[in-house]
Amino acid sequence: MPVASGSDPAAVLAAAQALARGDLVALPTETVYGLAARADDDAAVARIFAAKGRPADHPLIVHVSDAAAAQRFAARWPASAQRLAQAFWPGPLTLIVPRAPGQADAAAGGQDSVGLRCPSHPVARALLAQCAAVGVAGLAAPSANRFGRISPTTAAHVVQEFGDTLQVLDGGACEVGIESSIVDCTREPPVLLRPGRITRADLERVLGAPLGERDGHSPRASGTLASHYAPRAPLRLMGATELQQALQALPRGGQGLAVYSRSLAVPSAVALQRRMPGDAREAAHELFSVLRGFDDQGAQLIWVEQPPDEAAWDGVADRLRRAATR
Ligand code: TXA
Ligand code: MG
Repeated sequence: MPVASGSDPAAVLAAAQALARGDLVALPTETVYGLAARADDDAAVARIFAAKGRPADHPLIVHVSDAAAAQRFAARWPASAQRLAQAFWPGPLTLIVPRAPGQADAAAGGQDSVGLRCPSHPVARALLAQCAAVGVAGLAAPSANRFGRISPTTAAHVVQEFGDTLQVLDGGACEVGIESSIVDCTREPPVLLRPGRITRADLERVLGAPLGERDGHSPRASGTLASHYAPRAPLRLMGATELQQALQALPRGGQGLAVYSRSLAVPSAVALQRRMPGDAREAAHELFSVLRGFDDQGAQLIWVEQPPDEAAWDGVADRLRRAATR
């Protein structure tokens, strides 16, 4: 029974026991599905890197049940981390803090910092509570996709990535749909490394001060590589005018083309087309599922209309930019 309902307490208990033994389990979070192992077991964590095909020096996020559990992994708990955790946990925010020596070594990929996140999805919370009860304080979990691919937002996507032998807890379609916002709190002022549902403005409001700018000292973060989150078909991001012109001169009558546009009427000859929602949260919610759907339906080329240049759209714009980079 590799895919089990996350609302079945027996399935959650079985998953916690499997994790305690060092097995991998895929779990739903409010952002995307994660591929989890106990964070204190370097051999279990090594299986995550192997399954994903991810370089072992790319650090993983450690998921915890609350800020107290998070602090067990931290050498120091900066005031900024405290404020942000208080305001946004449980929720789609990852905090990078100095790492306690000897804690989650493999998960941290050799960095002297650690990324910590307290998810709000009820199934993730139930699983973390069961894990804590059997002595597992944190779950290292990257997005449950192969390296460089689109993050999964349903249990079926996870099965597509890893086959049906992996244990998956099904928690439905992820509400947020793009990965957590990541803030580096090892520095003052803190720096936003990856935008998500929680925006720069949300963070600055809570901190009462501007975030710092990214520079060459930013720690390695695979979600921040230029090319990532890519569908199989090449993706081109275009302004509305450019896309309009391209649609008027359709190559091969639109054969193999998929279009995701917010404001344009797309010719009916383009069989694969979806309208991007006008609301940034709705667009984020469906983004990865739409791109994956295009791949599944045999798209050879994907054209996407550039989202609005507004703070609420930062997360979507960031993922689309990386999906378009090869
Ligand atoms: O929403 C999410 O964050 C999802 C769910 C499963 O929680 N997880 C996720 O994990 O997106 P992953 O591994 O796909 O992306 C985590 C990002 C990577 O870019 C990683 O390099 C960065 O977080 N990261 C983790 N620990 C870090 C650290 N100590 N310093 C800098 N970056 C770190
Ligand atoms: Mg990822």
